[in-house]
Amino acid sequence: MKGKTRITALTAYDYPTARLVDESGIDLILVGDSLGPTALGYPSTLPVTLDEMIHAARAVTRGATRALVVGDLPFGAYHESVEQAVRSSIRFVKEGDVAAVKLEGGVERAAAVRAVVDAGVPVMAHVGLRPQAMHQMGGFRVQGKTDEAARRIVEDARAVTEAGAFSVVLEGIPAALGAEITAAVDVPTIGIGAGAECDGQILVFTDVVGLTFGHVPRFVRSYADVGGVVRAALEAYREDVVGGEFPGEAESY
Ligand code: KIV
Repeated sequence: MKGKTRITALTAYDYPTARLVDESGIDLILVGDSLGPTALGYPSTLPVTLDEMIHAARAVTRGATRALVVGDLPFGAYHESVEQAVRSSIRFVKEGDVAAVKLEGGVERAAAVRAVVDAGVPVMAHVGLRPQAMHQMGGFRVQGKTDEAARRIVEDARAVTEAGAFSVVLEGIPAALGAEITAAVDVPTIGIGAGAECDGQILVFTDVVGLTFGHVPRFVRSYADVGGVVRAALEAYREDVVGGEFPGEAESY
C-alpha cells in the first residue's frame, strides 16, 4: 500500500471495539499496550503484562475478521534477551492469534527484530517517542527536535527495517522528520503525532471516540463523545428505575 493509498490503523482492546473498528474498514488493528491506561486503569503502559495482552488479543482477534491484527509486546516481554523476544512473540501468535507483533526501539532492538522475523513472526517496529522508555526520555516529549536527535531516529528506522520489520510506527516527532523517514525506508510508516506525510496514521480508540478519562494528546482528533452519550444513557436508566418508569408493560412478562 506504500505510495498507493494511505493506511488506516486504530487500537482495540476487546471484542466490541474490535468489531466496530474492523467493520468500519480500518486496515490494521493494534492491540496496543495503551490497554493499560485506557482499559485497565493503570497509570502508564509499564505495568501491562504479556498475559494481559494475550487475553485482550484473543478477544480482539475473535472480533476482527478482515483487518490485520498486530499484538503490542509489553515492557519487559522482550527486553531481557533476543531469545525472550522470540519466545514472547511466538506466545502472542499461538495464544493471542495475532498475525504480527510490535515492539519499541531502533538500533538497540534490531537483533531482536531480526530474530523474531527469522522465527516466522512479522514485526512492526516503533521509533521516536517510545512510551515504554518514558523514564529514560524524561516523560512524554516530542523527540528528534535537534539535528543530532533527528539523525539518530532516522538511523533507528533504518536499522529496524534492515532487520526485517514490515512497518514502522513513528510517534511524537516533527512532521518534517516523519516525511524524511517515510522517504528513506521501503516499508510503510504509520504515524502518531508524526505529521501528514507518513504512509498511514494510527490513533488510540478511546481518544478517537471520546472515551478517554484524563489527558488527550494534541495530535489526537476526537470524532465523537461516546463517553457523554453513555453517561446520559446510564443516568436516564437510573432515573427510570428510581422513578418506577422501568420496566414498563412492554418489558414485562
Ligand atoms: O499502545 C499503543 O496504543 C501504541 C500506539 C502506537 C497507538 O503503541
